[in-house]
Amino acid sequence: MSATTQLNIGLFGFGVVGKGLYDVLQNTPALQASIHKICIKSLDKKRSIAAENFTNIPGEILNNQHINVIVELIDDADAAFDIVKAALQNGKAVVSANKKMIAEHFEELLALQQEFQTPFLYEASCCASMPIIRNLEEYYDNDLLFSFRGIINGSTNFILTKIFQEQLEFEKALLMAQQLGFAESNPQLDIGGFDAANKLSILLAHSFGIIAKPAEFIFTGIKNISLQDALVAKGKKYKIKLVANAQKLADGKLAAFVLPQFVTKHDELYHVENEFNAITTESSFADKHFFKGKGAGAFPTASAVLSDISALRYNYKYEYKKILIQQASVLSNDFYLKVFVSANEIAAINKDDFEWIEEWHNEYHYCWLVGIIHVKKLAEHDWWKLPGVSLIAYPDAVVENIDYKNISKRSLELAGIV
Ligand SMILES: NC(=O)c1ccc[n+]([C@@H]2O[C@H](COP(=O)([O-])OP(=O)(O)OC[C@H]3O[C@@H](n4cnc5c(N)ncnc54)[C@H](OP(=O)(O)O)[C@@H]3O)[C@@H](O)[C@H]2O)c1
Repeated sequence: MSATTQLNIGLFGFGVVGKGLYDVLQNTPALQASIHKICIKSLDKKRSIAAENFTNIPGEILNNQHINVIVELIDDADAAFDIVKAALQNGKAVVSANKKMIAEHFEELLALQQEFQTPFLYEASCCASMPIIRNLEEYYDNDLLFSFRGIINGSTNFILTKIFQEQLEFEKALLMAQQLGFAESNPQLDIGGFDAANKLSILLAHSFGIIAKPAEFIFTGIKNISLQDALVAKGKKYKIKLVANAQKLADGKLAAFVLPQFVTKHDELYHVENEFNAITTESSFADKHFFKGKGAGAFPTASAVLSDISALRYNYKYEYKKILIQQASVLSNDFYLKVFVSANEIAAINKDDFEWIEEWHNEYHYCWLVGIIHVKKLAEHDWWKLPGVSLIAYPDAVVENIDYKNISKRSLELAGIV
């Protein structure tokens, strides 16, 4: 493609983001990009533009020689993979925002790009408007990047903000997020942590060269966080955020997880509210960087899609440097986490999984503890994900070595060990 090639777009999906992209393109004529045809699921739905723009037959777009760019913005990951695969095989450049599809098929998508030499860009898939993939891919050298951590799901951050600021009930906050177009069509993807885990999976590839499906690291969402947890957090002067973490351990391997986490007011993430996303990176020489931007919604997401479409003009492709050229890191699950766990009943918390317990409170229908647990125990057991139990990582949660000499007798007593 040259700087003057007309971009003829075949668009899949005309929901929150697809319609957002359509509107944004109407206001950026200088880009010389226009939507040729739109494929949607149901032809019967009332649309804001003329019916002749639409089809429900993918082949009408995928086999159209005039269309040179496919923009995939649908909410069905399986159908999306078929569309993207066919498009890449047909030599068409592809832009997508579908993190679930990308995380599930990362290796196949990488192979397709290599085989057919077609660009596949997906900046909007991770933090919507916030350009993080290209930064991780291009700016940081694998050896220099030490960690990144951040809020990478806009709707859960919106829900947590409403619970903290307005003491809104969880269900009401979720409904608001859905009405504003921040939530996935299936909200379980957001509140169950799957969406953030899919994004972490993509970010790990571009930052540390690790291709890992969400099942390979621990993650959970916010659906078990209660108002009582929020009150305990407030009492400790913390907020609760759903945070994705990736951090190099002393042996060079990588600890990665997505968990609700207590954040202090000295943490940049503390001040990130509503649908905003943010990521802090730490690297050897640059030290800390902080990125913040809108992580959901029609126009913010469409803006990242637009940026990818525009990047096609100068033949931009991800080089996958960390995977293909440099020495990739490997994931480790040999580390400990300091966590807060609450439950309706003590019996719901598996005390035996803890190395030690520092604090223990037992009230009527609400008990909680703070302790150190090996991440393997969390990977092997799921009591901490069951309804009625919430697990929240402490600030600086990763503990590499534990020193049993530091365990107080009191904590052993509380834990019922002596
Ligand atoms: N919303 C956000 O803030 C946001 C942010 C970042 C990334 N994303 C991602 O962007 C994508 C789209 O999200 P959205 O919020 O725009 O979803 P949405 O509002 O639910 O819209 C989904 C669209 O996909 C169409 N569709 C579904 N299955 C299809 C199929 N098999 N073939 C053709 N069209 C199909 C639907 O058609 P009908 O109109 O006929 O139902 C609808 O137009 C998802 O991958 C999502 O994860 C969304």
